Amino acid sequence: MPEAILSLAGVHTHLGQHHILQGVSLEAARGRATVLLGRNGAGKSTTLRTVMGLTPASAGSVVFDGRAIEKARPYAVARAGVGFVPEDQAVLRGLTVEENFRLAMLQESPEAWAKLDTIFELFADLKKFWRAKAGVLSGGQKQMLAIARAFVGDHKLLLIDEPSKGLAPIVVDHLIASLNQLKQHTTIILVEQNFHLASQVGSDYFILDDGRVVHSGLMKALVDDEGLKQSSA
Ligand SMILES: Nc1ncnc2c1ncn2[C@@H]1O[C@H](COP(=O)(O)OP(=O)(O)OP(=O)(O)O)[C@@H](O)[C@H]1O
Ligand SMILES: [Mg+2]
Repeated sequence: MPEAILSLAGVHTHLGQHHILQGVSLEAARGRATVLLGRNGAGKSTTLRTVMGLTPASAGSVVFDGRAIEKARPYAVARAGVGFVPEDQAVLRGLTVEENFRLAMLQESPEAWAKLDTIFELFADLKKFWRAKAGVLSGGQKQMLAIARAFVGDHKLLLIDEPSKGLAPIVVDHLIASLNQLKQHTTIILVEQNFHLASQVGSDYFILDDGRVVHSGLMKALVDDEGLKQSSA
């Protein structure tokens, strides 16, 4: 197994009275795309939110790039190098696409602007709508803007929650192509219920159920295992 950029060991998370994550342990390898699968309510989003410190772990360890972050506040996790694209296509609708990018840049350095060429290659529509308000973008375009914003922030790891949600199949295919290119530039952890996207983009998988990891392995082994695939959604 290549070096892990992120490791969770025995992570528990409580939300109010509810014990949501009940000992999640997983590792994401640097330079690869790891997919979290599992039915609704399994704890996939909570796992990402716990890594970000948005719903802090009540027990267990989270190590990112050699550093313990289970007690870190969300801004500290972001500054350590973790980008987060939540479920709801988080873009600022009243701002233009360009303004959304400027906000997302940690620093408006020449390097950050140089990244735009890569972003326009990955997401051609963003160039077309550069001066348009983000609110006029389609669902798929908003999703791509949300991912591109996280990418321009120059993170070592991107956490992306259900990017295909609500998108038409043809848009999902476009997203698959973009995510596969994005993989060449950064490490990704993806929550995804669309098995087509998960299997096309993911290198490794973890299946969660009831706040625990119940299966894990190489995505290509999962693709060949019909029985196990049924339990992933
Ligand atoms: N703020 C909250 N307070 C109490 N329980 C919550 C809260 N947010 C989520 N939950 C519960 O935590 C469990 C895990 O939710 P989570 O959003 O992590 O699931 P998920 O695997 O992402 O599901 P989905 O595929 O539907 O997005 C669910 O049972 C959910 O009802
Ligand atoms: Mg979710």
